[in-house]
Amino acid sequence: MTDPLTLPLSKTTQVYLVGAGPGDAELLTLKAYKVIQKAEVVLYDRLVSEEIMALIPESAEKIYVGKARANHAVEQSQISQLLVDYANQGKKTIRLKGGDPFIFGRGGEELELLAQHNINFEVIPGITAASGCSTYSGIPLTHRDYSQSVRFITGHLKSGHVNLNWKELALDQQTLVFYMGLAGIQEIAEHLIQYGRNPETPVGIIEKGTTQDQKVYVTTLNGIEELVKKEQVSPPTIIIVGEVVALHEKLKWK
Ligand SMILES: C[S@@+](CC[C@H](N)C(=O)[O-])C[C@H]1O[C@@H](n2cnc3c(N)ncnc32)[C@H](O)[C@@H]1O
Repeated sequence: MTDPLTLPLSKTTQVYLVGAGPGDAELLTLKAYKVIQKAEVVLYDRLVSEEIMALIPESAEKIYVGKARANHAVEQSQISQLLVDYANQGKKTIRLKGGDPFIFGRGGEELELLAQHNINFEVIPGITAASGCSTYSGIPLTHRDYSQSVRFITGHLKSGHVNLNWKELALDQQTLVFYMGLAGIQEIAEHLIQYGRNPETPVGIIEKGTTQDQKVYVTTLNGIEELVKKEQVSPPTIIIVGEVVALHEKLKWK
């Protein structure tokens, strides 16, 4: 069988939108690994780990376009324009994003301008933070006894509030995974309790998941306030709400 790492890159692809996964470089797909090593220009985000940045050839131009909350290094429209410009210069251009580019990654928005300019692109999926954090913390997202569905939710605050369909989210037998939820974590917990979720529902907070600095905090909806006061939890974090979190004690392996 042919080793996929030895296959050549497509001659016609001008831009690769690449998911870098949640941090651990060994979680890159073979395709992402191969493409990164052939890059001439890389536009990268804040959440791409140092280990992965180290795989980019020295000769490649590296451009930071990362975004911290409410602090955009480069506006979205400029990022798309840069991709178009570099592609038109004939450079193998990589847009490298944390996790999966199509999950809370604005991957779709960035590709629209490329499509308008008839630029050939490929999208390489990455392991999304929900998946990386759940596996590396020993918290299965679904389990036949506890959870029949899982939802990926943005906990991003809009005008200082998390606006979500709380009634649906408060139903039990489902796992909730909040991205970008740390700033609004107390509001999230209060609303879930107010709309009927059991206050003793376990909550897992995974900080810097899959990296050497990963930390896992386990509490309950009721206990979040105290935990946040006591611990210096810092982003990036994934927040998992549901009975499956209780399995962490038994299944943790990292
Ligand atoms: C803008 S979203 C990007 C998500 C990304 N596209 C993905 O699929 O994972 C950024 C959020 O992802 C989560 N995140 C990304 N990497 C993480 C990590 N290593 N550990 C914990 N949370 C992470 C955090 O909730 C962070 O605020």
